[in-house]
Amino acid sequence: MAPATRAGGTAATSPSGDPPLLSVRDLAVTFRTRNGEVPAVREVSFDLARGEILGLVGESGSGKSTVLTALTRMLPRNAQVTAGHIGFDGTDLLGLREAGMRRLRGDRIGLIPQRPMTSLSPATPVGRQLRWHLDGLDDAGRLRELLGGVGLGAVLDRLDGYPFEFSGGQLQRLLIAVAALGKQPDLLLADEPTTTLDATVQAQVLRLLLELRDRVGLAMVFVTHDLGVISQISDRIGVMYAGRLVEIAPTRELFDAPRHPYTQALLEAIPGRYRRGEPLRTIPGTVTGANRLAGCPFAPRCAAAIDLCHEENPVTREVGTSLVGCHRAGEDL
Ligand SMILES: Nc1ncnc2c1ncn2[C@@H]1O[C@H](COP(=O)(O)OP(=O)(O)OP(=O)(O)O)[C@@H](O)[C@H]1O
Ligand SMILES: [Mg+2]
Repeated sequence: MAPATRAGGTAATSPSGDPPLLSVRDLAVTFRTRNGEVPAVREVSFDLARGEILGLVGESGSGKSTVLTALTRMLPRNAQVTAGHIGFDGTDLLGLREAGMRRLRGDRIGLIPQRPMTSLSPATPVGRQLRWHLDGLDDAGRLRELLGGVGLGAVLDRLDGYPFEFSGGQLQRLLIAVAALGKQPDLLLADEPTTTLDATVQAQVLRLLLELRDRVGLAMVFVTHDLGVISQISDRIGVMYAGRLVEIAPTRELFDAPRHPYTQALLEAIPGRYRRGEPLRTIPGTVTGANRLAGCPFAPRCAAAIDLCHEENPVTREVGTSLVGCHRAGEDL
């Protein structure tokens, strides 16, 4: 077993060996709330290579959306990045001026947000918003191609309608068409992009994203609760718990040999493991460790916890090709 490394060390790298497109180190995000500070994301580190797809899973509230919005610097006003570094193709994203960041968001980094309505103006016809986002897009043929690609050919003649006149799945697909196909970014951050879609449309959208990856080297961070989807689309999977990335591993490795007790519980909680369309189930108990000052946040729910787990937060260590934040990583649990 390799020596233990801090999450911010060199170990979170992607397998290709090329300089990563995206490099996140020790990212921490805190929300100010009426009840004080909520540390939503802590010590999150990972790399992403060009053309690589990283799936992000974890219970509701574990910090997945916060990581994605921090990467695009679109956090809500009451949130603050309190530590860390985000490198994108050699640029320090956290140090960039807003204008520079806006350019990157327009051209090279796309976000499909978890709630499509939040990124659409309710009082402007959908077609006009598509044109804003796609720099005019007067070419009717191109528009037909974009919308057809996400199974939306049928709404082409309804684009003078307002967002409330479209279904949630249609809006989600409009945003996928804009973010992935229209702009063809280098990096797409997709927050549960297919959750409201039926199985056929979902398969079509996933095929499209994989095609883009193959054709233009699109890299993606893909958040979903659907293990079937994540196993189909991801090269590696990151598992979040209480704001921390507790395990990150190649997809096959994570399913065949989950190392962190939380990952193991997550997979075991699913009857007929990871059948397509199966949602992630919760694990007995609730997330109580987010605000713990000492100890592993999963310790209160962990059957394998030892005294040390309640006293010290584990450093992340390499076990085979996995990175695991667990004191007992590498043991046969
Ligand atoms: N605007 C906000 N103000 C205060 N706290 C917030 C805000 N947004 C998120 N949080 C808190 O930050 C933590 C992480 O939330 P986040 O939305 O990133 O979780 P998630 O993993 O995306 O969950 P889900 O699977 O439900 O989408 C949670 O504890 C949440 O309550
Ligand atoms: Mg979310």
